[in-house]
Amino acid sequence: MQKEVTPFIPQTAPSYGHKEREAIDLYLQSNAWLTEFEKTIAFEQEIAKRATTTYASVVPNGTIALFLAFTALGIKKGDEVIVPNLTMIATPNAVQLAGGTPVFADVDSESLCLNPDEVARLITPRTKAVCHVSLGGRVGRMESLMELCREKGIPLVEDAAQAFGSSHRGKPVGSFGDIGIYSFTPHKIITTGQGGALVTNREDLYQAIERLKDFGRLQGGGDHHDHLGWNFKFTDLQAVLGLVQLENLDERIDKKREIFAHYQSQLTDVPGVTMLHTNLEETTPWFIEVFVEKPLALASFLKEQGIGTRPMYPAIHTQPIYAHIQGEFPVSTHAGAHGLWLPSSLSLTPSEITRICNAVKEFLRFV
Ligand SMILES: Cc1ncc(COP(=O)(O)O)c(C=O)c1O
Repeated sequence: MQKEVTPFIPQTAPSYGHKEREAIDLYLQSNAWLTEFEKTIAFEQEIAKRATTTYASVVPNGTIALFLAFTALGIKKGDEVIVPNLTMIATPNAVQLAGGTPVFADVDSESLCLNPDEVARLITPRTKAVCHVSLGGRVGRMESLMELCREKGIPLVEDAAQAFGSSHRGKPVGSFGDIGIYSFTPHKIITTGQGGALVTNREDLYQAIERLKDFGRLQGGGDHHDHLGWNFKFTDLQAVLGLVQLENLDERIDKKREIFAHYQSQLTDVPGVTMLHTNLEETTPWFIEVFVEKPLALASFLKEQGIGTRPMYPAIHTQPIYAHIQGEFPVSTHAGAHGLWLPSSLSLTPSEITRICNAVKEFLRFV
């Protein structure tokens, strides 16, 4: 008799199907130019609609979106940008790419987002922007942060790479700052393979972004350049994919919330496991994180059971590339050292989640 093989559950996987295939096929039959054109404009309009912003501009990825956000705000050598000490490495690296210096603030333990009190402590005359990161789709103390930035006259950038589809008090994440950015890599709520977007209500910033992403010109097709710029344009091929993915964004959001709720209902009372309090009315969870004493041991136990995981981002100051950073960061250090991301794909079924949770409980000798 054939031995039954338990299927491997990956930590993450993209979600697309026949509608995407059909849309791309149809587009390719139209002798289209493939590069940024009408499909991209339509995609941008939909992004702006979801973000409730006046403008949206799409670019090759979230890192470039961050770079353009900082550059459009005029960040240059000697300028400081305050970022959380718990984020994907692209956040501080994009500050550096723009020529600035990232300054690291610890995060709040409830949300793992920027702690405004820490930000206030770090502001100097060189601080030229603050960058909030919606880690896992959460927001934290946005009102306090906005008030602080307003009081000090410092622009606020929202790195909402993981948070497209999340809102805070009814307002889409990404629309609070001077500029917000999203990412559309395969493990985000919608994907275009690679891809990113900037959203803003400020016309001056939008014009600057549009110039910067197209060789410094505002009118494509010509070769007159009075500004410095590069080629960070999107492609219509990706926009076709993105437009189809947007069609069922609400279902995707509901699915993510259901996945989180399933995990929560099975893990909340398990001694030795902590999950973050998450308002599922507003948050679209990204990767499902749990905090345990020994995340690496849990990861290898789960791997033996055919379950993929990923350790959470280490606190930035513990990364070799940022080892020179001085300071006390107890919250981000703890989260980075104890966080583990469990399988989080949109395709996860309730029975797979039960299998994962049972394995976690078995590891912790709970059952
Ligand atoms: C918080 C955060 N910022 C920036 C990025 C970079 O986005 P991209 O991978 O599209 O360059 C990511 C990617 O996951 C992210 O999670």
